[in-house]
Amino acid sequence: MHKIHTLDDVNVSDQRVLLRLDLNVPIKDGIIIDDERIDKIMPTLRELINKKAKVIICAHLGRPKGLDESLSMQLVATALSKKINRDVALISDYGLAPEMTHDLQPGQVVMLENLRFHEGEEKNDMTFAQQLAELADIYVNDGFSVSHRAHASVEAITHLLPSFAGRLMEREIAALTQAFDNPKEPIIAVVGGSKVSTKLNILKSLAKKAMYIVPAGGIANTFILAHKQQVGKSLCEPDMVDMVLEIENVALHSGCTIIPPSDVVVVESLEAGAVHKICTPQDLHYNDMIVDFGPRTVTDIYKIAQLCRTFIWNGPLGVFEIPPFDNGSVTLANKIASLTSTRDLYTIAGGGETIAVLNRAGVMEKFSYVSTAGGAFLEWIEGKSLPGVEALKKSNVVIKNKSSKVANGN
Ligand code: 3PG
Repeated sequence: MHKIHTLDDVNVSDQRVLLRLDLNVPIKDGIIIDDERIDKIMPTLRELINKKAKVIICAHLGRPKGLDESLSMQLVATALSKKINRDVALISDYGLAPEMTHDLQPGQVVMLENLRFHEGEEKNDMTFAQQLAELADIYVNDGFSVSHRAHASVEAITHLLPSFAGRLMEREIAALTQAFDNPKEPIIAVVGGSKVSTKLNILKSLAKKAMYIVPAGGIANTFILAHKQQVGKSLCEPDMVDMVLEIENVALHSGCTIIPPSDVVVVESLEAGAVHKICTPQDLHYNDMIVDFGPRTVTDIYKIAQLCRTFIWNGPLGVFEIPPFDNGSVTLANKIASLTSTRDLYTIAGGGETIAVLNRAGVMEKFSYVSTAGGAFLEWIEGKSLPGVEALKKSNVVIKNKSSKVANGN
């Protein structure tokens, strides 16, 4: 396997660095409501500034179809500028980018407007990548969470510029490699949330590796349905019943135990503070809706986690966005966080909703690693290779001198 080059392998001083970041932050009413992704890339940005690189940030926001001013990077550039206490000029017109980046000073930072305003980005178009490459001497990818996309600023660009991983990229790869490729065993994995069909593929892959898997949320309900039990009005995907049976078969053959809920929280109508009861899945009524795991199930998971060395978590146990149905998820987050230090349990979590749960429980810092990635985290769990990471491994474009680049062997 090829080694990924990092910032330890290059002298960035006085070099124009094209820095790909994932700054796809949630924005509501013109305000960034969670700047976790900005904070996570600060070590790389600060290092580049301190080492006197000339930094050209490129990133995307949302999924625009062409130019869409509501998805401009301006808010993000302003937020970033406050954090580093220096100007971050936004280059809206890519036609002017060569001129605006030509005379950058060491330590200066600029940002390109939303990459996805350009058709070539999502098409992994070499001409668009060339346009980006002409702005810089070196490419650094610190956007692990967009590295499952074969886009021009993630993949094609690595064929044109000497390419390096940023510090966040390094940390993400190291943590995910430890959890999935080289884990301390036994493993327990909890996979919940509402996107049942997407997550079932992940469970299938985990069933081959983990000693225990815990389907949660809508996934758990689909498992209950697969056993011809009543799920009432609970979220589930009846079309996925065959897939559930397939997962059970894989688990059976690989010695993996699937943990079903022993109790669940149910309501008749879904609203904050709704009257609810706790019952076993066998006692569900046709009018009931499962909204959380009950306390007995959370304790079951906690007890099993005590027997394990790695705990993987993606997706809440229930409808955590409507209190008090976040109880199960928050209680589990607290219990697992405590095991991280007391039982030498390697605890890794990823995905936006899971991060929201950990934040609500106040245990973000207590997990061994929390990935900022959503889709990329899931694809890694599934065992898929990520185009952005693969491209960094393969990139063999080297710096010849400050102003020109040649590919190895050419
Ligand atoms: C994310 O938010 O997960 C990344 O920025 C990727 O975004 P995408 O799913 O729109 O490609």
